[in-house]
Amino acid sequence: MKLKVTDREGNKHELEGDSESTIMEILRDSGLEIEASCGGCCACATCHVYVDEKWLNKIPPIDDDEESMLDQAFDVRISSRLSCQISLSEELDGIELELAPE
Ligand code: FES
Repeated sequence: MKLKVTDREGNKHELEGDSESTIMEILRDSGLEIEASCGGCCACATCHVYVDEKWLNKIPPIDDDEESMLDQAFDVRISSRLSCQISLSEELDGIELELAPE
């Protein structure tokens, strides 16, 4: 499965991943600059991404823990999500997202 990522410089990347991985893990393992300092425990908000609007209704809804972490993130938008809280799936094959500012 693929995901299309725009980095903070505006460069586009097409990454591959499987359903064993969260989007944060795929971003991190590809070498893109994503801090993900808590390692995916929903405790840091440094894996913040903006999900392209046309994919927003396909990803699992935000839960209370993610919402409270996002409250502490910068530059939060309607499309903001924590990438460690989204696992790749067949339904999300081709998802487009952008790295949020650090
Ligand atoms: S990696 Fe820390 S909240 Fe996602």
